[in-house]
Amino acid sequence: MSLAKRRGFVFQSSEIYGGLGSVWDYGPLGVELKKNIKERWWRSMVHERHDIEGLDAAILMHPKVWEASGHVSGFTDPLVDCKHCKNRFRADDPRIKGTPGQPDAQCPVCGSKGTLTAPRQFNLMFKTFMGPVEEQAAVIYLRPETAQGIYVNYLNVLQSSRQKIPFGIAQVGKAFRNEITPGNFIFRTREFEQMEMQFFVKPGSETEWFEFWRAERMSWVKGLGIRDEKLRWHQHDKNELAHYAKDAYDIQYEFPFGWQEFEGIHNRTDFDLSNHQKHAGKKLDYLDPKTNERFIPYVVETSAGADRTSLVVLCDAYREEEVRGEEAADGGEQRVVLKLKPSLAPLKAAVFPLVNKDGMPELAHRIHDDLRRHFNVFYDDGGSIGRRYRRQDEAGTPYGITIDGQSTQDQTVTVRDRDTLKQDRVAAGKVVEYLTQKLAG
Ligand code: GAP
Repeated sequence: MSLAKRRGFVFQSSEIYGGLGSVWDYGPLGVELKKNIKERWWRSMVHERHDIEGLDAAILMHPKVWEASGHVSGFTDPLVDCKHCKNRFRADDPRIKGTPGQPDAQCPVCGSKGTLTAPRQFNLMFKTFMGPVEEQAAVIYLRPETAQGIYVNYLNVLQSSRQKIPFGIAQVGKAFRNEITPGNFIFRTREFEQMEMQFFVKPGSETEWFEFWRAERMSWVKGLGIRDEKLRWHQHDKNELAHYAKDAYDIQYEFPFGWQEFEGIHNRTDFDLSNHQKHAGKKLDYLDPKTNERFIPYVVETSAGADRTSLVVLCDAYREEEVRGEEAADGGEQRVVLKLKPSLAPLKAAVFPLVNKDGMPELAHRIHDDLRRHFNVFYDDGGSIGRRYRRQDEAGTPYGITIDGQSTQDQTVTVRDRDTLKQDRVAAGKVVEYLTQKLAG
């Protein structure tokens, strides 16, 4: 967290006012990292597949959507208050000893006994009003998942894109949940981004597609460069399943605070479409052109958090290590390095004139101008070269391009690899080509 703030990945929202509970802002490096993850997702889901279309539905939707989807009645967490210290907890908070509402229950914050109320259901949706009058009839919600924007548009997309079932719709966008116990930095927040895909299939084929999407999603996650031993599956038992799901598997990562989910694959059956058909009074069934059968499609959903995936990528990349070799000339220097997959790194390269004289800055600026037309790159001429390398190690920048005395003689530069610390000498005119090759994948 300290590195994230210091280097401009993530800041607390409204920090000068003391912050807003569990809402975070992405700084210059963070916005690039998250954007790279979202673009990678979009590319693999929408551009590289013939059977998935993209969508960008509005955050605000007709309030009946949330009645039909079951979120008004079912999207709740059991909430417990401590009458003594006024803190609130989820009733299933593992820190609570005893049964809330009973004299034996102990508040995990102030330690009082018998002060915890019996659980009551608390809806996690944020409410607001549409129009000038703040009355019950004007209540609308900030969407708690992007999926519903896809369901209500499924026929629009199907007809306009001339897709046939099986096919999918993908969307990236904000979602909001008034979480009772948010925390762990950007892990559980009240405003976050989801990358969701709903795959519409013929009833009876959903189990096969479920397994297909499980394999695809794990392979995508591994493609982010996450270490295998830090990933595992977790199947939801009956008590964990969301109100819409018949079967669900989470992809979990071993965070510093334990194994936790950052993506879910859900078999949502025809729950959502059937309920929308009923509540909206509009036919949402599909006519199979080959068999002339009519059916409401079943849905296999893949649902990932862009923020949680960013946290996974950051945690997995973070290393504290001893520098060896040439760069540790004065012996045993420690460095903090983000070993981000180069294609995900916010900055692809940094350009360093070794000293600010003898024609080096001029050549360095020329190279920097050339590179910035292709990649997000940084120019740094402040401090010793060792300190400049360390700063880019912390930012996760995979390549450091140094313009030294030899460069002005023979128009070559050194390119330093963040992970191996090895340096290649490359012709100044070939640096774009060199980086393009290194950054592929
Ligand atoms: N449409 C299905 C759905 O929303 P979910 O398991 O509730 O399923 C899916 O959420 C993903 O969204 C999670 O795996 C997580 O990555 C992200 N997510 C959910 N709640 C979040 C929160 N409060 N803060 C950050 N990310 C969250």
